[in-house]
Amino acid sequence: MLTSPELRALKGQRPSVWITAYDVVQAQVAEEAGIDVILVGDSLGMTTMGYDTTIPVTLDDMIHHAAMVRRGATHTMMIVDFPFLTYPDIPTALRNAARIMQQTLANGVKLEGGRDIIAVVDALIREKIPVIGHLGLTPQSIHTMGGYKVQAKTSAAIERLIADARELSDHGVSAIVLEGIPDRVAAFVTDHVDAPTVGIGAGSHVDGQVLVFHDCLGLSPNLPKFARPFAHVRDDMIHGLEDYRNAVLGRSFPSDAETYHIPDREWERFLAEYKD
Ligand code: KIV
Repeated sequence: MLTSPELRALKGQRPSVWITAYDVVQAQVAEEAGIDVILVGDSLGMTTMGYDTTIPVTLDDMIHHAAMVRRGATHTMMIVDFPFLTYPDIPTALRNAARIMQQTLANGVKLEGGRDIIAVVDALIREKIPVIGHLGLTPQSIHTMGGYKVQAKTSAAIERLIADARELSDHGVSAIVLEGIPDRVAAFVTDHVDAPTVGIGAGSHVDGQVLVFHDCLGLSPNLPKFARPFAHVRDDMIHGLEDYRNAVLGRSFPSDAETYHIPDREWERFLAEYKD
């Protein structure tokens, strides 16, 4: 299993490969595929729970799903998102981090924000909890951002992003997720911080990539511009269920080979002895 110091040391060596996962099967296939880091993201709310945003996701939801992921992937680094408003101050963040680390056996936590949350980041790192930062399009701020919009598009916004990334890196985060920002901005940040950057919708010049499981494998009905479906699992599932339905209706399922049998002699004895 990749460790947090090893993750930081990968910078400049090779890209790290991250995927989100929310249950045991997704975790198993991610581990079998050799993914470096599984992120139990609060995108859980949209991919799995049917919400429009990540805001309704609770700490209990995250812990419930992260514990499943851990059971499916015992040898892969697992990072768990702090959901909305679960890290407003140091005591609350530490209490909630303890629950995440102890009840899910996570290898670290991720939280959205930069200089505004640096005191919380310091407190977590002081308690030896690896922390991943998250800058740019931060879905927990959807209402103040006014939608899922590309961020850091003005000189002032780029300066703020770089200052946030530098502060997180200097305070010892294990990596920084850069979401929904122009490629040149992500490349500039990547070249100006020590911590590895992990991009999602941030172009190719970053230290790693993360995709949402459902986008990566073609399970999502709609794909964002930056996502590439590397499989078409939703279509496969629909075709499989259509085939199953047709086989049941046409009585070709189950076949003889898919059926349990009893020896003739036993069956005849039963019929002879059975009284209606
Ligand atoms: O919640 C999540 O899945 C995330 C990734 C999109 C980075 O934060």
